[in-house]
Amino acid sequence: MQSNSGLHVGIIMDGNGRWASSRGLPRWAGHVQGVEAARRATEAAPELGIRTLTLYAFSADNWKRPVEEVSAIFRLFDQYLERETQTCRKRGLRLEVIGRRDRISPALRQRIEWAEQQTARGTNLHLRLAIDYSSREAILRAAETLLRKRRTDRESFSRALGGCDTDLVIRTAGEQRLSDFLLWESAYAELMFLPVLWPDFDRSHLEQAISDFSRRERRFGGLNPLPAPAAIELAG
Ligand code: IPE
Ligand code: IPE
Ligand code: MG
Repeated sequence: MQSNSGLHVGIIMDGNGRWASSRGLPRWAGHVQGVEAARRATEAAPELGIRTLTLYAFSADNWKRPVEEVSAIFRLFDQYLERETQTCRKRGLRLEVIGRRDRISPALRQRIEWAEQQTARGTNLHLRLAIDYSSREAILRAAETLLRKRRTDRESFSRALGGCDTDLVIRTAGEQRLSDFLLWESAYAELMFLPVLWPDFDRSHLEQAISDFSRRERRFGGLNPLPAPAAIELAG
């Protein structure tokens, strides 16, 4: 979904724990700084041609972490939505939370619904927060829905998953894996693995990533540039 409609960038915001540990701080302190980095990325995104930004904030597998850390992370989500929703609305951001909602507290669920409803008219940036998210689960849910409707074509599948192919996936903190993030949507995404820890991520990192992305040659299975007509005739 490039060109006119703007880029869809997904970010695996990794490295909060390492950022904190390297300073002798508890892991939650890294998550607090991680929220600031998310705010910076969100502010910069519309000016860099990003129309949709999906931030991986908490994976379905992150429930395996100690309960104190998980609680701290969910408190931060709640605070973020409470404090930032009106700013998002004023900036024309449309907030959406993707992922399961049946395992989070009713209070947070309500806060999410409120934030989504408050920002529903935003057109500058579609900000998708992936919370309790698993791409494989999302794919399975979409498959179940579509099988009930007896529709199994690619278009319907993409629509059921949110209808948004990813142009670029950025992962911070050096790990080179997707950890169950946007697997279907990233079929032709460019991948970028940056050494910077997420709490240190700032506007310049995002600018650099977009600039590198713009120099990548995307071919989608075809040839770039297209062969001249004569060459095609010869081949035919
Ligand atoms: C990413 O940072 C945030 C979440 C997964 C919630 P981590 O907490 O995974 O940080 P590291 O990978 O341990 O440094
Ligand atoms: C992926 O990071 C999830 C988020 C950034 C929210 P993890 O730190 O959980 O991934 P693994 O365990 O290193 O693959
Ligand atoms: Mg990690």
